[in-house]
Amino acid sequence: MTLGRGVDVSHENQDAVTRRCFLTLAGGAVTTIATASALGPARAIASTTRLARRAADQAPPTIRLTAEEVALDLGGRKVTTWGYNGTVPGPLLRVRAGDSVRAAVTNGLPERTTIHWHGIRLANGMDGVPDVTQAAIPPSGTFDYEFEAPDPGTYFFHPHVGLQLDHGLYGPLIVDDPAEAGGYDAEWVLVLDDWTDGVGPVPDTILSQLRRGTANMPSSGSEHGMGHGGDKEMATTMNSAVLGGHAGDVDYPLYLINGRPPNDPETFVVKPGQRVRLRLINAASDTAFRVAIGGHRLTVTHADGFAVEPRDAASVLLGMGERIDAVVTVGDEAVPLVARAEGKDGDARAVLRGGTIGDAPSRRAVVRELRRVPLTVHDLRAAPAATLPARSPDRRHRLILDGDHRRYRWTINGRIFDPETSPLSVAAGERVRLIFDNRSTMWHPMHLHGHTFGVVSGKGAGARKDTVVVRPGERIPVDFDAKNPGTWMVHCHNAYHQEAGMMTSIAYR
Ligand code: C2O
Ligand code: CU
Repeated sequence: MTLGRGVDVSHENQDAVTRRCFLTLAGGAVTTIATASALGPARAIASTTRLARRAADQAPPTIRLTAEEVALDLGGRKVTTWGYNGTVPGPLLRVRAGDSVRAAVTNGLPERTTIHWHGIRLANGMDGVPDVTQAAIPPSGTFDYEFEAPDPGTYFFHPHVGLQLDHGLYGPLIVDDPAEAGGYDAEWVLVLDDWTDGVGPVPDTILSQLRRGTANMPSSGSEHGMGHGGDKEMATTMNSAVLGGHAGDVDYPLYLINGRPPNDPETFVVKPGQRVRLRLINAASDTAFRVAIGGHRLTVTHADGFAVEPRDAASVLLGMGERIDAVVTVGDEAVPLVARAEGKDGDARAVLRGGTIGDAPSRRAVVRELRRVPLTVHDLRAAPAATLPARSPDRRHRLILDGDHRRYRWTINGRIFDPETSPLSVAAGERVRLIFDNRSTMWHPMHLHGHTFGVVSGKGAGARKDTVVVRPGERIPVDFDAKNPGTWMVHCHNAYHQEAGMMTSIAYR
């Protein structure tokens, strides 16, 4: 990952860490880091999770995050975008479960912003929703976020204003479990994204094109030299059986892993035979990814940060906002990791290398595992420790997901979100069942803030998650315990659907 340029940590004990472009928040609890420096352009970072003990009197450091204009080199194509601390993705933030995250945020953008800590069960005032949990940070303004991260897992952070996520404003947040047995030798954080900034139209232009029904991504910027004649054609060409039909609204010119396009993939180097924990984060705005490693199977261990009963899979599917942890063992070879834009034309790539000999896989290397039906939420069961205790719901809310593609209106229970939308009522202490009922012709990755729900399935406890893919015609019930008072957003994590209104909230004191 190209992390760390400009990272400033107001804590002296961080030198060893920041030097390696890697940011840990856990004071002296420094993770071990190895880099693949012997391999020239390879800038991968490995870390184990062996944690040193932090001195009791040592307060967690404050990290400084600046949202600002960033120059990016996308495999030789220079673009200007928005990012955090000069990098895309932003710096990797890392704490131990139970520790505090303290982030002093400066807004260097020409418009207001916030940071939302996606998936974290935090205090409501730190949730980063403008006009709901805080006043947005004005240009040149600052805001200090401070919250406890109670649950270990793979998370990320991004703004909650407009379409800022579809620039380069996102970064990984890892919460380590001091009690975890491990069972792997190295760890690789992979942030997946669909990219337009500087290559295609800016996100706001895309949205107005979608609203006017004239969305038309440029052919010149496309990696494949392919463009589409107009939105009608796009709507019929972007299709995916696993997503139940229409795969997305935006035909992106590029897809990235850790800010790198497929012609300049990141290489991650381990010793042959080592077990590698992948932490996959889908930070895209309109793209699901099907991820596989050439010639290898993945063992999925966590979904949205929480443990699942381990499952082997040839490939996995991640909707926007979802995370998957999986373990893979690589031999004495270099193999491609491919994140294919599901139902779209393009992919993002990286290279996993066991040892230092052997050629890198070619840009076009075919990964047969991608032909297999990917593992989805319906294949996953919560591990016992992550299972929501059995209880019948005290309250049910049905959320009817619908939309009008032509006018580009996306609704929950017939409404577009606005400040007058009344929250769904819930009382503290209740077990609440939300039923995501998709009556539209497109899939929606539905996300709940401040809680982790259990997916209700007929076949035992479904995975614990905060984001779930709901396909057209599908009805997915999820349960959560109302134990974190506040006003919490529930929305589609397709940035364009969210901006077009597909959002509501729940509230309790
Ligand atoms: Cu990651 Cu409200 O979203
Ligand atoms: Cu949606």
